[in-house]
Amino acid sequence: MISRIDNIQHVQTKNYHKTNLCPKVSNNVPFKGHLKIEMTPNEGFEILRHETGFFREYPTLKFVKDYVEKFFKDKDEIRIVSGACSTGEEVVSLGILLNAMKDKVKILGIDVGEKAIDSAKSGKYTFERYKYMHSGSNLSALSDVFLAFKTKNKLSIEQKGLKQLFDKFFEPTDTVFADKIVTEGNKFIAFLNKLLLMPIVKEQKEYKIRDGELRNCEFVLGNITDINEITKGKKSDVILFRNAMYHMATDYFDTVKGKRVLCNSAENIIENLINILKNNLNKNGILCFGEHEGYQLTNDKILPNVLKKLGFEPLNRTPKQEATVWKLKSE
Ligand SMILES: C[S@@+](CC[C@H](N)C(=O)[O-])C[C@H]1O[C@@H](n2cnc3c(N)ncnc32)[C@H](O)[C@@H]1O
Repeated sequence: MISRIDNIQHVQTKNYHKTNLCPKVSNNVPFKGHLKIEMTPNEGFEILRHETGFFREYPTLKFVKDYVEKFFKDKDEIRIVSGACSTGEEVVSLGILLNAMKDKVKILGIDVGEKAIDSAKSGKYTFERYKYMHSGSNLSALSDVFLAFKTKNKLSIEQKGLKQLFDKFFEPTDTVFADKIVTEGNKFIAFLNKLLLMPIVKEQKEYKIRDGELRNCEFVLGNITDINEITKGKKSDVILFRNAMYHMATDYFDTVKGKRVLCNSAENIIENLINILKNNLNKNGILCFGEHEGYQLTNDKILPNVLKKLGFEPLNRTPKQEATVWKLKSE
């Protein structure tokens, strides 16, 4: 069980009202996060996509680990916030990577999805292996099935290392739902799924955090825009808000164009959010975004432009966009 960090308060998600209808789930992406989607009780529909995975976009996580170890090693307390933690995989991955500093690193996961947070607090994770999909060997992508199942692909050295680490912190539970959700019994549904290239769950395995491990990870229901209230004004050294900005800054999914549409006030929404995060950052603190944030926002420039306008500079480069890690320029 994951322990509770003192003085974190449960914040209502009342301020969350950005309508984003994007029910279309891409067929070729492993849809991770065992809750997948959740509807919020807000006015109208709100579909929260809890797509996530362990060690997702590993280059960014590795950058954060190295940065923390290099620049914050002399601090008494290092506070990390995962601002859209979904079912917890991002928080736990960082907890594992930074375990050597566990006595001073505190990692707080915030998400606006109530069920996602409940699930994260349980410390249990279900892995799914799909029938019509490759098992995935790209660490930068979502797929983390190599942690739970033997795959046909040879594991890279990096994957082997991560698997070893994972096994140190996780143990399988007795719950193995082999072929439970498979529609193989129903030939017609199986045929339809194959035709549509829909992933079919072939096997599920549940893992839980080993007793006493990762006690520096904490989860709380809330809206990232309330970060100051949630952390009671305590500042953070690292804030991640990865693969979530589109929830706030796009309106709907345009099925004809096959992409989301930025809302009119997207730039204002992003600027307001970055200002809030900036106020919550300690000196030398860093902000981290997803590797496809620009694509998800449907405008590669919008986020870097706002960040530069507010005094941030990029710290790394990614193949797809300017940077995922940003720091305030020193005066
Ligand atoms: C696609 S998941 C990304 C999870 C994780 N950060 C990752 O990269 O794997 C997006 C998450 O953002 C959450 N979210 C969206 N808007 C939010 C907000 N304003 N505050 C907190 N969480 C939010 C959703 O509930 C969802 O769980």
